[in-house]
Amino acid sequence: MGEPAEPVLRQRLAALSLEQKIRLLTGADFWALHAEPAIGLRRLVTSDGPAGVRGETWDERDTSANVPSPTALAATWDEARVQRLGRLLAAEARRKGVDVLLAPTVNLHRTPYGGRHFECFSEDPLLTARIGVAYVRGLQSQGVAATVKHFVANDSETERFTLDAQVDERSLRELYLAPFEAIVRDAGVWAVMAGYNGVNGATMTESPMVREVLKDEWGFDGVVMSDWFAARSTEAAARGGLDLVMPGPGGPWGPALTAAVRAGAVAATVIDDKVLRILRLAARVGALEGVEPAAPAPAPWSDTEIAAELRATAAAGFVLARNTAVGSDPMRLLPLDPNALDRVAVLGPNAAATRTLGGGSATVYPPYAVSVLAGLQAALGTDRVSFATGVRSTGRPAVAAPPLVSDGEEGADGVEVRLLTAGGEPIRVEHRRTGEFRAMGSFGPGIDSAAVVAVELRATVRAATTGEHQLGCSGLGRFRLTRDDRELLAVDLRLPPDADPAAVLHPPLQTVPVHLAAGERLPIVLRHEVDPAAAATTFALLVEPPHLPAEEELAHAVELAREASVAVVVVGTTEEVESEGFDRETLDLPGRQDLLVRAVVAANPRTVVVVNSGAPVLLPWFADVPAVLLSWFPGQEAGNAVADVLLGAAEPGGRLPTSWPADPAGLPATTPVDGVLTYAERLLVGYRGYDAAGRTPLLPFGHGLGFTSWEYLTLQASGPAGPGQDITVAVRLRNTGGRRGREVVQVYAGHPGGRPPRSLVGFTAVEGDPGETVTATVELSARALEHWDEQRCGWSSEADAVTLTAAGSSGADGCTAQLAPGP
Ligand code: BGC
Repeated sequence: MGEPAEPVLRQRLAALSLEQKIRLLTGADFWALHAEPAIGLRRLVTSDGPAGVRGETWDERDTSANVPSPTALAATWDEARVQRLGRLLAAEARRKGVDVLLAPTVNLHRTPYGGRHFECFSEDPLLTARIGVAYVRGLQSQGVAATVKHFVANDSETERFTLDAQVDERSLRELYLAPFEAIVRDAGVWAVMAGYNGVNGATMTESPMVREVLKDEWGFDGVVMSDWFAARSTEAAARGGLDLVMPGPGGPWGPALTAAVRAGAVAATVIDDKVLRILRLAARVGALEGVEPAAPAPAPWSDTEIAAELRATAAAGFVLARNTAVGSDPMRLLPLDPNALDRVAVLGPNAAATRTLGGGSATVYPPYAVSVLAGLQAALGTDRVSFATGVRSTGRPAVAAPPLVSDGEEGADGVEVRLLTAGGEPIRVEHRRTGEFRAMGSFGPGIDSAAVVAVELRATVRAATTGEHQLGCSGLGRFRLTRDDRELLAVDLRLPPDADPAAVLHPPLQTVPVHLAAGERLPIVLRHEVDPAAAATTFALLVEPPHLPAEEELAHAVELAREASVAVVVVGTTEEVESEGFDRETLDLPGRQDLLVRAVVAANPRTVVVVNSGAPVLLPWFADVPAVLLSWFPGQEAGNAVADVLLGAAEPGGRLPTSWPADPAGLPATTPVDGVLTYAERLLVGYRGYDAAGRTPLLPFGHGLGFTSWEYLTLQASGPAGPGQDITVAVRLRNTGGRRGREVVQVYAGHPGGRPPRSLVGFTAVEGDPGETVTATVELSARALEHWDEQRCGWSSEADAVTLTAAGSSGADGCTAQLAPGP
């Protein structure tokens, strides 16, 4: 075990011809790299990431442990926990034949409008870096590679393929590059993904930053791969420092790069360096015969161990944003006493359909997902729990799924899939649980993909209620929906020519209304003609049942709330507003969810709102509701963890990794102007911006209430430090509440001029019993107290005294001390 010996890697390299070398520099297919049996190199498999390990199949047949999404992980502020989760992901990767996980995503929450906000950790570079380092260490300690992405300033999605982010050098260094630097230097990450976007005029797969900063300055010795389809040129990308074009087998390298080397336009040593890096990666993950992997293989986790870990981690990331008393009751509403609850009304669109993860390439298929409704039913018994959706948050018809569809009239839940040849012969007939079909690059092992000209989904709709059902399809290309050979629908669905490739994951759709009586069975067939030029075949059969009229639905929820001892309203985002390939247009909760909250709390003041979103949403009713729990996208154990926290079995351990705005005023936009997105706020991102403008968000960065309270007493620093020296800070604080609890002690530095008023420079967590005084020891790295000096092109320590504040959030007072300038 240990790092692969360089002479061995060089020997293997020397055995390859130029053509063999260049073949290794482009993917073999959508997820894998080429094998080269001549030198004992097996096929290397990559997979998304970050909320689980999907593997090579993109559907529910191959399930993955669905861990809480990155905002939830960052909200734990708990590196040991995240490192353990990295080990779990490594075990998942090995179980699924994956060597390289395409995670973590460490772009910043520059603005809550960023569509993939849920997939990134935080608005703060230090928190992002520390959680990212823990994630990578956990994964790589078990011999599975991490791929930190997307290098760099890919902080929003609009025009992501072409946008040029204009970022000043200091903000780049102190904010956007900082997490990558820490993960390269402190976690020794084995792979980096170059983003689609450009920065300061150069597209990232060709940017000089790849070689000059990442490789030369930071000493990164792993593989730089392109984001999928991001490599655009032969020579510039090769000379710029990109090592691997993904996916394959096409792309701008291959024979064109061989020709460029033969013509002397790209040096042979440049190619050798890339191949060496791929061999080093292969050796590290155990894919190079005769070379010991860098770490032992992970031990498998049992389903019970996974469930327990994910349940505890979800609760550890929940942020209790508000918790007040109701009426004459002196106690705060949470935690609820399960013995004092006659009936709990569980309401809202995300109650039964809780989102456990964000959309886009991060999608994995969990073996099960516990909704908040199911979690509370399991904890309290179904008799004590009533349920209504109240309002709808999406207009998009649902993918056909049980119990609404069966495979044949008397068949199993789900649909039948037929892969058909030109002659109409089925090449493969399969049973699937839902009407979602995805084939990325191939129709699966052992199938002659070129021979598949059409895919049919066959199902029997089992109407449970009488009324108008919407039947249809979503996807790209030609579709025909029939019942008893009679055509219901024939469409050719298209995207605009400049659409983001991720749009295939939320494509256009069309439905037709069909009236069905309760109990009626309707066999239908959806046929899709495969486009041989498309990189992927992905479409869905849609079946949406009839709904109650909107006002009846709302009135029903309000009625249930009125009759209950407590109402739990679960609101949240949908895949239409929070996913990959687009940014958010509004921070409002979709649909009439705000109306639902207001109507429920008016009917029953004992109302808890659970917010199920990966990123901030506006909460205009916040001050009128006694308890608000932010659950993020909490993974497959979502509902069990919510029940644990609401009923007091677990403390909500989370602290905000990002500020939650009171209103959208002043937030940076994500729309480029003439292809340029200017980071005009420079260093003033998130809480730094609020502080500088003297504005308060609804919820400050770092905020989160446990079930107890803390008083900060003193702060003592070991300084003054010399240049380049770390500092230790001791913070004394007392548990002033009635329960044992955990507090995340955050240390902020206030700089005299030219910097944001406060920046996070260190944190640690402590636990204590009621009345107990504890001391938190917080290590502040020298780098955290330095700034990037644009004149000197290097890091400098502050010339003036710095004020350190230890507090429970960026908005709290806590206690302070002066740190004199270094000698
Ligand atoms: C995403 C990457 C992802 C890749 C492969 C891209 O669209 O930006 O984060 O790893 O697809 O799925």
